Amino acid sequence: MRAPYTDRGYACSPIVSGADSPATDRPTKAVIDLHALTHNYAEVTRRISGRKVLAVVKAQAYGHGAIPVARHLAGLGAHMFGVALVEEGRCLRDAGITAPILVMGPVFPEQAEVMVTSDLTALVYTLPVAKALSDAAGNAGRTVPVHVKIDTGMGRIGLTPEAAAEFVPAISTLPGLFVEGLMTHFSDADLRDKKFAALQMDRFESLMGSLDAKGITIPLRHAANSAAVLEYDRALLTMVRPGLMLYGYDPLENRGAANVRPVLSLVTRIASLKKVPAGVPISYGRTFVTERESLIATIPIGYADGYSRGLSNRGEAIVREKRVPVAGRVCMDMTMLDVTGIPGVAAGDEVMLIGSSGNERITADDIAAKTGTIAYEVLCGISGRVPRIVKQVQG
Ligand SMILES: Cc1ncc(COP(=O)(O)O)c(C=O)c1O
Repeated sequence: MRAPYTDRGYACSPIVSGADSPATDRPTKAVIDLHALTHNYAEVTRRISGRKVLAVVKAQAYGHGAIPVARHLAGLGAHMFGVALVEEGRCLRDAGITAPILVMGPVFPEQAEVMVTSDLTALVYTLPVAKALSDAAGNAGRTVPVHVKIDTGMGRIGLTPEAAAEFVPAISTLPGLFVEGLMTHFSDADLRDKKFAALQMDRFESLMGSLDAKGITIPLRHAANSAAVLEYDRALLTMVRPGLMLYGYDPLENRGAANVRPVLSLVTRIASLKKVPAGVPISYGRTFVTERESLIATIPIGYADGYSRGLSNRGEAIVREKRVPVAGRVCMDMTMLDVTGIPGVAAGDEVMLIGSSGNERITADDIAAKTGTIAYEVLCGISGRVPRIVKQVQG
């Protein structure tokens, strides 16, 4: 028998300034705009005619800070929150979030007790976990809800619909468990071609039909990620599970359906400015050499903050409402910008790395395109040492 699970050492919120941790004066920060979050949540609810919303806030709400985001969305009426880890769920509970929290990642039997005592809802798809939860519920003298995960084509966790047709009735008889939810996850609902998503829905609907026929009614049936909320009404079911669109990004191949606004801006300030003649190498490896007399700014952000080294000689920033290029390699803690020709540029000036200023705008999608990834990874990759400053909603 393994020892009960402990999450000591997991840092809930080292990064969010304000009530949750000491404020910081670090000039490099991610500014979280709750107005934009409100707008994006309204865009979700506008599309789902009264269905429930499970807001996905795993991975620090995609890098935005799970606690302030969940608090705000709870105030807007989100029914449930989705996290990946038990630790993430416990942090939300400790922060006073009382709405149901679904742990959507794998749970191990030894985590059953902490799941029950922290009032977290598990995804189940194996008998050992279901039994451990049933035992833990019994010990606590409670009945706990569980959601069953169906793998209709993602090839990740979950039961095949055929196996689930036997599993769901079997665990429904375990004491202390209530099968509240049935869920599946799309592998490519973001594509214009919804053929595979339709096949996944066929499989899911056929399972729901067979459980209904056995008299097993499961109130929460959910499949829709942001892509499906935006472009696949058939998947809306009784609850939707958006993540990315809440944070202001459109995952669709066919971009443009989403009326959403980025919630996060990544900003810093010029720490030092130097005038150098032509022929001067900048940063590691001397991959950038000035071609003319240049003004080079150093900013206090690097790949340890999640500003990818892939942006070396490729990234851009906005200074005094003008785009400027990254000069040379991004270092661990610093990056250089070629600010030659920006009128009046001075040490201390604000530098926008994600966000807009004047008519210029840089998004996580722009960075993702340059570094060969997706906006999700850019946002989640902003590291824990970058403070998140929450811009409160006024009035
Ligand atoms: C199980 C599950 N549901 C919903 C989501 C939300 O997806 P999206 O951010 O594309 O809306 C995710 C995110 O990866 C997920 O893993």
